[in-house]
Amino acid sequence: MSKVLIVDDEPRILLLLQSLLKTNKYEVETARDGAGALEIVRGGGVDIVITDLRMTPMDGMGLFKEIHKLHPSMPVILLTAYASVETAIDAMREGMFDYLTKPFKVDDILSCLARADEKVKKHESLALSMDADTPPKYRFENLIGSSPIMTQVCDMIQKVAPTAATVLINGESGTGKEVIAKTIHRNSPRASKPWVAVNCAALPENLLESEMFGHVKGSFTGAYADKPGLFEVANGGTLFLDEISSMPLLLQGKLLRVLQEREIRRVGGTKDIPVDVRVIAASNTNLEQAVVKGTFRSDLYYRFAVITIDIPPLRERKDDIIPLAKHFIRLETPDGSPIPVLEPETAKALMAYDWPGNVRELENAIKHALTFMSESCLTPDLLPPKILHHAQAAEAASSSNADSATSGNASLKSFLKQKEKEYIEHILVAAGGDKAKAADALKVNLSTLYRKLSDDPNN
Ligand SMILES: Nc1ncnc2c1ncn2[C@@H]1O[C@H](COP(=O)(O)OP(=O)(O)OP(=O)(O)O)[C@@H](O)[C@H]1O
Ligand SMILES: [Mg+2]
Repeated sequence: MSKVLIVDDEPRILLLLQSLLKTNKYEVETARDGAGALEIVRGGGVDIVITDLRMTPMDGMGLFKEIHKLHPSMPVILLTAYASVETAIDAMREGMFDYLTKPFKVDDILSCLARADEKVKKHESLALSMDADTPPKYRFENLIGSSPIMTQVCDMIQKVAPTAATVLINGESGTGKEVIAKTIHRNSPRASKPWVAVNCAALPENLLESEMFGHVKGSFTGAYADKPGLFEVANGGTLFLDEISSMPLLLQGKLLRVLQEREIRRVGGTKDIPVDVRVIAASNTNLEQAVVKGTFRSDLYYRFAVITIDIPPLRERKDDIIPLAKHFIRLETPDGSPIPVLEPETAKALMAYDWPGNVRELENAIKHALTFMSESCLTPDLLPPKILHHAQAAEAASSSNADSATSGNASLKSFLKQKEKEYIEHILVAAGGDKAKAADALKVNLSTLYRKLSDDPNN
């Protein structure tokens, strides 16, 4: 069974959920706040997180964002009051697994967890051989790539995975840097050893240093006990240094030393501890430029740049869009349920869009569409409004003719009205048809909602 981390500042809820989950054979950990929860997640082993929304100083959304950075595929379930349903819907757009409104029913919690559990298992075991759209050569778990450029990336992964070489992965945000780093780890002789990821941009310098190298008791205020760093935790395995360009210069020097000497020294310590760790780094900014600017050490850059994998943005490898969309549809569909069909019109809209947020944005768009789907068919109207508008605008532009200039204003107005209505209907579906709840989520009053739903063109 999966291990579930429950985060709530109310001890009563923690106890209640803990005993419910344990009775249902889940392994459980608990945390009273976001910082404690993140520490547990970073330590590894957690599969699913259930978090309350209202907590201080970090609320459930903040925690979700941090977890999502570390483990984009980890299901996070948000517990929220009715009044915050809008936040929850936004969160789902950003990749939150699901939300439950308080007071929740035991059955709802258990069925939501069962779905999350299924996702965890599927994510672990989904083999690409299931994907008829992708050449069988690439059976990397969870890594889809059928464009020529991704084929090259996969070739590269196959070559570097068996080695212990340091690798640098470059690409815009959401292009799949972490998924590629993980694929290298899983296909390496270190696969059964720890995979540890640290986001260098997420922590201030002193915390990052003690996070990476550990510290000894009393080395700074708050260092109540000796603590091993992530290099020690990752011993024998792979350490993924995300957003390496954000690493402060002083730490870059220390990292270089570790890469050369293969030993670390804890903050405040005097002993050198040998470590056997493969380091994979990722950057979404141009590291060469950072070297020129003097914010990144050139010796460290050259150490990483020996093996570089460049992942182009999704808009430059459009052949990957549909196989990826189908992959996400399968991933999100519970076992035994029919796999929703991606309608040709929907595929066309996906192909027409530029994907500034790359694969992550595509994944979220598919999740959005599946959330609002009622029959097992992904129609274009289920896509997030931004993508749909883009596709419709592209279509309108291509079919526009000379006299459209005079009628432009009127048609834009009716187009926007139509979109507004569709969006309201989406929210209504999400609110289970409850108009008061939908009005609340949309921050309009109930009479406005009724008016906007009526057929009156002047509403
Ligand atoms: N080729 C791919 N095949 C399958 N899933 C992918 C692929 N590329 C990306 N994804 C999925 O897209 C999401 C974003 O990928 P990932 O987190 O690896 O991006 P990233 O480049 O590390 O982004 P960031 O710079 O924002 O950290 C993840 O859920 C990942 O599983
Ligand atoms: Mg990443």
